[in-house]
Amino acid sequence: MVDLLLGLQWGDEGKGKIVDVLTKNYDIIARFQGGPNAGHTLEFDGIKHVLHTIPSGIFHENAVNVVGNGVVIDPVIFKKELENLSKFNIDFKKKLLISRKAHLILPTHRLLDAASEASKGKAKIGSTLKGIGPTYMDKTGRNGIRVGDTELTDWKDRYRALANKHEAMIDFYNVDIQYDLKELETEFFKAVETLKELTFIDSEEYLYQAQKTGKSILAEGAQGSLLDIDFGTYPYVTSSNTTAAGACTGLGVAPNTIKEVIGIFKAYATRVGSGPFPTELFDEYGKTMGRVGNEFGATTGRPRRCGWLDLVALKYAVQVNGVTQLMMMKGDVLSGFDTLNVCTAYNYKGKTITHLPYNIEEENVTPIYTEMAGWKEDLTKMTTTSQFPKALNDYIQFLEKELEVPIKIVSVGPDRTQTIHR
Ligand code: GDP
Ligand code: IMO
Ligand code: MG
Repeated sequence: MVDLLLGLQWGDEGKGKIVDVLTKNYDIIARFQGGPNAGHTLEFDGIKHVLHTIPSGIFHENAVNVVGNGVVIDPVIFKKELENLSKFNIDFKKKLLISRKAHLILPTHRLLDAASEASKGKAKIGSTLKGIGPTYMDKTGRNGIRVGDTELTDWKDRYRALANKHEAMIDFYNVDIQYDLKELETEFFKAVETLKELTFIDSEEYLYQAQKTGKSILAEGAQGSLLDIDFGTYPYVTSSNTTAAGACTGLGVAPNTIKEVIGIFKAYATRVGSGPFPTELFDEYGKTMGRVGNEFGATTGRPRRCGWLDLVALKYAVQVNGVTQLMMMKGDVLSGFDTLNVCTAYNYKGKTITHLPYNIEEENVTPIYTEMAGWKEDLTKMTTTSQFPKALNDYIQFLEKELEVPIKIVSVGPDRTQTIHR
């Protein structure tokens, strides 16, 4: 049995927090796509952790964490993540298993990302510059280097050939990128040795056998549905399938083993990086969301753009993923607003529509809002839904009616304990 947990917006919905909260119910937590462009934040016992590649179940004794074949791993960042966790005495050899089929991010992939973005000027994607796009390009171009390859004797020759090609490509971009490849390579090869101290597995076989013996799996998504390479706001997307189907290809689990599809969304909307965002706010409301919600990228520290909840986009994400239960995050951030807007339709080239069109650029789309009453109460200390103000209950019920999926968890703060089940 596999449950999926996915972000339904443009990432940073609070996936890390909820995976941590739910891990006690599962035997295995498995990341299925993305790489260290992700930043998943967990808070408990007064400490805050940001994970990039390591699944968010790592702090729990009961669960094994798997990095699936669909993930791209930067050994250098991965090593730092392990070092940051060293004080927790986690038995990584047993608790953190890596798919041999996961692809490696090389130092030159990161440089290529930087060169590509620099060459785009104003049209840049706003990438996290972690080498994600170039690594997935080499994967689909059938040139990539996989984790399992590092166990072969000739892998460094293959590395060299690919890195040489990348250097020629970087030159082609003809942009000013300063780097010392020798230094980057020393760091990289050292980090690969650390990676090799962990357990490599054939994760599709591991997960198949685990299911046969009755183990439960939670698949942890990265990014969000609107950053999906196929269904997101292309080309302002990431380079993997962040939607439900990505869990099948990114872990090798069969579609008919998937039970719950848990969709995580913020009570408002944020986006970091470039690309269309119809409900974006440039006024005091947006600034307040950013300030109260502490909306800064967990990976890059960039301020996140903020706006009202967009139900047209959210419905689309629910539909594409087949979401069976929803979790609403950061409800506490909206406390204090007199009124709240929820986008329920778009004016698209003069017509009212309720589906997400091909092109949601500003010149085509104006959001149509339904105004709702706000609430003043501080939610952060609440522990049951019976303490919720009426306006919050109305907000939740309105969303459930529109989305036709129950909201099972309302999150009222970043800490593990600030999680209310409905
Ligand atoms: P992820 O990438 O989906 O795991 O999300 P991020 O960790 O990038 O961003 C979510 C941010 O919101 C983190 O700083 C969390 O600590 C924080 N957070 C999560 N849930 C809540 C919540 O209910 N209320 C508030 N105020 N912060 C939250
Ligand atoms: P988590 O898992 C928010 C965004 C980048 C950029 C675009 C492409 O923490 O939700 P890339 O580095 O993939 O080339 O960037 O996608 N992006 C994210 N935004 N959360 C993330 O991950 C993101 N990962 C990538 O800002 O706009
Ligand atoms: Mg994040």
